[in-house]
Amino acid sequence: MKINAKTKVYGVIGDPIEHSLSPIIHNAAFKKLKLNAVYLAFKVSPTNLADAVKGLKSLGVSGFNVTIPHKISIIPLLDEVDSLAEKIGAVNTVKNVDGKLVGYNTDGEGALKALEENGVSLKNKKIVLVGAGGASRALAFTFANYAEELIILNRTEEKAINLAASISKNYGLKVKGLRLNEENLTLELKDADILVNTTSVGMYPNIKETPIPKKLIKPGMVVFDIVYKPLKTRLLRDAKLKGAKVVDGLAMLVYQAVKAFEIWTGLHPPVNVMFKAALRGLKD
Ligand code: ATR
Repeated sequence: MKINAKTKVYGVIGDPIEHSLSPIIHNAAFKKLKLNAVYLAFKVSPTNLADAVKGLKSLGVSGFNVTIPHKISIIPLLDEVDSLAEKIGAVNTVKNVDGKLVGYNTDGEGALKALEENGVSLKNKKIVLVGAGGASRALAFTFANYAEELIILNRTEEKAINLAASISKNYGLKVKGLRLNEENLTLELKDADILVNTTSVGMYPNIKETPIPKKLIKPGMVVFDIVYKPLKTRLLRDAKLKGAKVVDGLAMLVYQAVKAFEIWTGLHPPVNVMFKAALRGLKD
């Protein structure tokens, strides 16, 4: 990589950030397309967020990703937020447009592409979404364009109810927010087509945990876990044993990056190169 005075700078801000795979994924794409650009990780604590955003703007950084814990708190610090990210209430991608910082959210599109790539269509489907945090909101607002029914189950019931209410205000599908417990899961999974885990349950190092008891998974159902560390979560291993179709978190990770890359550069990045880079990063 040749760095000179014209090199465009991109990056990700978050805390913790050391384990982010985004630098590996984006730099692999820049290299393949021979773009004079570099992508770095910046550890930014919540107390430094406002200063960091001002700094990124004054330094003329071309674009950056936003991750935990800043996806929501960054919104008032941006000049503009696109309508989907505004509805979601969270931003994961920022583009510097002639000195103005514009926020987007590419998580939902990433999830949609991941399902599509695995041959899963959302049309006329009943989707059960577990979790009601930032990632869940992004998926819910994107899936609501296609699905027939959306059930949101969350440990904190109020968040599920609120998310369901904002979905039903904006879209015409059947939607319900419920507490995450075995009774509601039993009821809703009986006739569900797609189950999506958006919680961190099962994520490294708690790899023995699962948000869904194995007995409630039905053969033929699609089970999508957005957790990518490990790729084969306990939920997905259980689902496979029960005869469900499983989709892991790798494709969503890559496709949210693909979408961000497109927003920043206007170019379609080499998706295969980004997949390989992400897999390499996961092994490190
Ligand atoms: P993200 O941006 O990754 O979605 P988040 O906004 O912090 O992160 O959301 C985390 C989600 O995981 C929430 O739905 C959270 O449930 P609560 O709203 O009740 O906090 C869910 N979650 C995290 N740990 C959980 C656990 N042990 N059991 C059930 N749900 C859990």
